[in-house]
Parts: sequence; structure tokens; C-alpha cells
Amino acid sequence: MLLLAFKDTIITDNTEPTTVKKGKTIYRCRSCGYDSLKWLGKCPECGEWDAFAEETKTGKADSLKISSVTVTSITDVEENDDQRVLTGIGEFDRVLGGGIVPGSLVLIGGDPGIGKSTLMLQALCGLASGGGRVLYVSGEESARQIRMRGSRLGAGREGILLVSEIDVDIILGVAEQEKPAVLVIDSIQTMYNSTVPSAPGSITQVRESTMKLMIMAKKSGIPIFLIGHVTKDGAIAGPRLMEHMVDTVLYFEGDRNHVFRILRAVKNRFGSTNEIGVFEMGEKGLEEVPNPSAVFLSERPENAPGSSVTASMEGTRPVLVEVQGLASNTAYGTPRRTILGLDSNRVAMIVAVLEKRAGLNLMGHDIFMNVAGGVKVDEPSTDLSIAAAAASSFLDRPIPQGTVVIGEIGLTGEIRAVSHIDQRISEAKKMGFTKCIVPMSNAKRTVQANGIEVVGVSNLSEALTQIFS
Ligand code: TYD
Ligand code: MG
Repeated sequence: MLLLAFKDTIITDNTEPTTVKKGKTIYRCRSCGYDSLKWLGKCPECGEWDAFAEETKTGKADSLKISSVTVTSITDVEENDDQRVLTGIGEFDRVLGGGIVPGSLVLIGGDPGIGKSTLMLQALCGLASGGGRVLYVSGEESARQIRMRGSRLGAGREGILLVSEIDVDIILGVAEQEKPAVLVIDSIQTMYNSTVPSAPGSITQVRESTMKLMIMAKKSGIPIFLIGHVTKDGAIAGPRLMEHMVDTVLYFEGDRNHVFRILRAVKNRFGSTNEIGVFEMGEKGLEEVPNPSAVFLSERPENAPGSSVTASMEGTRPVLVEVQGLASNTAYGTPRRTILGLDSNRVAMIVAVLEKRAGLNLMGHDIFMNVAGGVKVDEPSTDLSIAAAAASSFLDRPIPQGTVVIGEIGLTGEIRAVSHIDQRISEAKKMGFTKCIVPMSNAKRTVQANGIEVVGVSNLSEALTQIFS
């Protein structure tokens, strides 16, 4: 008897180790969705601390089963790239990879107040002015509030249908009935499934809602945009899982104290990632910035030490940005390093290389670095520009106004090749720069362009000599 009972446990344990009866309480990681029978301090799956929350286990949702399956040869499937729908906002369409793909599920993440709702309302306005009918579902604002915002944006179009609702099943019903050209859900964290007992915003709710909407998008061909909030550490709240379920993930970022906003594709099944769209937030909503280089350089001081310009590739497009550095004598024992818009580890490395290989005694100085305009740059090709800005401030010598510096710095002080050099040089030329300092191996392969002098350098001391000559 005892043996039998023992055997029973083994068998149950082996077959379904984490299965819990429907309705029983379990603990689920808010970050990755890992299930555990006990509360755990650290998630064994994703390593997140204090992420387990109590939830009630529900049975598998039967309604999600797709009953009829058809198998098709790849050559028989119609290509539908020409069916992309354009919103009329050029920057937005470009980030999406050339417009909205039918049946796609797009997640737009960003800090609260950055302009996600504004962007989507403007995009819907563009679609509706072409005669389309679009549906905007808000779980956060009433129809009247959306209308008020819409009037401010000049988005009072007949084709924009508004629904203030949080129940996913009702929303799916409305979408089925209205058959909109595009559906926007603002936001996924407010959505509620009556089949799931936990509160809106919990991982189970978000996952179920996303799943239902995904099935709807794929079956009906209606493209769906999900707006998602971002947690304080920068990830889309709750579901990293959600990023796997959707076709495209866009982040809307920027400094709230600056007017510039950058829409960045971090995942895109229908286009290139790292593509960015630049917007300016104004009185009447978001305006496109078709020439970001001009905007980012517009307030550049003349002949000021500590300012250097580089060409960074943002997706498929080169953008000129101004890197600013300030080196001042430190008042305390440990020098301060305050870095904005750049990777601070990278800056620390470059400062060490400047000290060791170029003989600049920066270790006893406080160093502040910033990228003008509140932009973030994380490309290694910015290295030489960081070094130039720091050196320029340290030496109190301005970098000549018409010079652009591009190159990655290695630990021995060598300047390493970067990608897309021709595009970067031609952007610099377009913006009226006259001299381009580039890695030697790049310079050997570039065609000398008219109107801009391209100088190749192979190490840091050589680069500094060229920059300040
Ligand atoms: P919103 O789209 O509500 O942000 P999110 O949905 O990402 O939370 O944007 C709100 C911010 O944008 C708010 O701080 C005010 C500003 N804003 C403008 O500056 N101009 C405008 O025309 C609009 C509509 C908003
Ligand atoms: Mg909003």
C-alpha cells in the first residue's frame, strides 16, 4: 500500500511536474512568466529578483484552438508586400519597413507621457484621411478626452472610431463587426480577460490579451498596434514574452525635457531593425524631422573647446551628432565621471586609452560627456569623437568647425575600421563639413569625394595631431 502510494507520486511527478489543478494558487515571474509552486526570491529562469506574484492558475483556453489547418507550398503563397498601408507619416512608415503590413501585430513601448497615444492618433488620422475606417480602443482615456486631444492635433476625422473599453472579448467583437483598416489598443496593460482571474496589467492578463489579439490579427488580416508601458529599468512592463509574440517592437524614446522624440525599431519581421524616425513634439502634436543632422547640429557653439561632431549610423541612415565633453580639475579625491547619452564603460575605456597612449593626464580630472539634443548613441564609431571632445576640453583647444571625426578605438590606441563609411562621409559633405578624419583602413578603400577632404589615421596620437592641426 505504502509502495503503491509512493509509486503514484513518482508517476505524477514525472509526467507533469509543474501542473497545478485549475483554480489553484501559483507564483509567476512578472518578468518572464516562469511558474513556481512556491514563492521564490530570484527567478531561476531570468534571474530577476523579487518578481514573483501570486496568481490563480486557469485551464488552457480552448477558444484559442485553430480548428482547420491548411498546408501550403511556399511557392503558392501570395506575396503581399505591395499591400502595405501607408499612414502618411513618412518617418513612421519608414520605421515600420515601408508601411503597415496586413495582419501584423506591432508593439509600441515608451515612457509615460512621451507621446505614444499622440503618435498613434496622428497615424490613424493619416489613414482616415485616405478614406479608411480605423478603430482606436482606449482603456485609459474616455472618448471625450481622446476627442479633445484629437482636435488639438487636427485629427477630427469621421473615419476614426473610438471605443473606451478594457474587455478584450468585447473589443474583438467590435473589431469583427466594424472591420477597421487598423486597430489600436491603448494600452495592453489595461486590457482585461474575464476568463483570467488576475488583475489587468498582470502577466497572465497581458499574455492572454496579446494572444487573443494576435490570433485576431492573423485570421482577419487587420493590423493591430499595441501600446505598452515601460518599467523604470526600460523594459516593456511585464512581458518580455510579448516581444516574442508580436511581429514588430518599436520603442518611442527621448528626453521629456527636450522636444525630440525618436521612434526606434528593435525587432521587425518586415523590415530592418535599428531604423529610426525622428519627431519633434510641438503645440500641434508630433512633427516629422526629415533632416535630423541639421536639427541636432543647429545649436552647436562656434569654436568652443569640447565639442566634436561624428556621423553615426541609425538604421540605414547616417545622422550627424554633436558629442560634448568637459574636463575640469577634480575637487575631491576620486574624479567624477558623468555620462549622458553614451555608454559610460566605453567612455571610461577611451579616457584610459587617452591617458596611456596619448599622454593626456585625464585621471585627475572630472569628466562630463553629453550628446546634444538628448539623443543616445551607442555605436563604437563614436569612440574617436568622444576622445576628441575630451581632449579638446582638456587642452582647451577647439576642434575646427568643419571637421567630422569617425572611428572605433582599440585598447592599444589603434583606430579601427567602421561600416558604411561612404554614407557617413556623404552625409558630412551634405551638411557642409570640409574635413573627415576616418580610420586608415577605411580611407584606403574610399573614393575621394569632391569638396570634402578625407584623412586616414591609424592610431590615437596621429588622430589628435590631425584633428588639432
Ligand atoms: P501622450 O501621447 O499622452 O503620451 P503617452 O501616451 O506616451 O503617455 O503625450 C502626452 C505628452 O505630450 C504630454 O506631456 C503633452 C505632450 N503634448 C504636446 O506637447 N503637444 C501636443 O499636441 C500633445 C497632444 C501632447
Ligand atoms: Mg497614452
